[in-house]
Amino acid sequence: MKILKNIDTEVLKSFRAPAFPGSYFLSFEGIEGAGKSTQIIQLKDYLESKNFNVIVLREPGGTPFGERLRKAILESKSEIHPLAEANLFASARAQLLWEVVLKELENPGTIIIADRYLDSSLAYQGVGRGLGFGHILNLHSQFPLNLVPHLTFYIEIDVETSHGRQKLRNAPKDYFESQGDDFYTKLISGYNQALELFPNRIKRIDGTRKLDEIQSEIRVMTDKLISENKSVTDQKEL
Ligand code: TYD
Repeated sequence: MKILKNIDTEVLKSFRAPAFPGSYFLSFEGIEGAGKSTQIIQLKDYLESKNFNVIVLREPGGTPFGERLRKAILESKSEIHPLAEANLFASARAQLLWEVVLKELENPGTIIIADRYLDSSLAYQGVGRGLGFGHILNLHSQFPLNLVPHLTFYIEIDVETSHGRQKLRNAPKDYFESQGDDFYTKLISGYNQALELFPNRIKRIDGTRKLDEIQSEIRVMTDKLISENKSVTDQKEL
């Protein structure tokens, strides 16, 4: 595995999913226009219909401090140094984990859905901005930043599809949306490398299919996660 060559396996071992019985942490990833938001709303409805307490968080953001950092990055009119960018995202993430994620997961039956998480930093700052996976993983190797979701859905689309969907939206472009094709190609390569590194956690979903087909695939995988963990909990109780 070529990506593993430059990565400290000890650092890699520090990543783990939070262990709170009956609670789950999920994340969604993809380049601009992948359709994360629509899928997240539908998954939330589905899980609520099964009586889970579902909390959707967006990254960067999700706390007052994180929202201020979000503005600092996404509304920046001048270029931000890649190291500054990576550290700002990690700061917002640490605050979100400490202030919201860890507290909420303590309540059994809670599902946190993060709209972007660690893999965005790996793809955008690690590859897009060229800092390297090693740097981003090191930055996240301590608690609570070493907590990773139980499952991550990477909704994959190509650069042309992304541009086409962004044009349709016709919204003003933020800091990252104004980047050229090269940057998007790097992001896709970054996500592919993240998939190589975390093959069990990250599930690749073809984002060019019909919305309901994508949603049913996501639901099947989420149900599987829940039923597998339920049987683990049941066994422990025996
Ligand atoms: P947002 O408007 O939430 O974008 P989207 O709708 O595509 O999720 O803006 C978040 C932007 O920040 C997005 O372009 C990806 C970028 N980002 C990073 O570069 N690194 C990160 O770690 C995170 C969480 C986001």
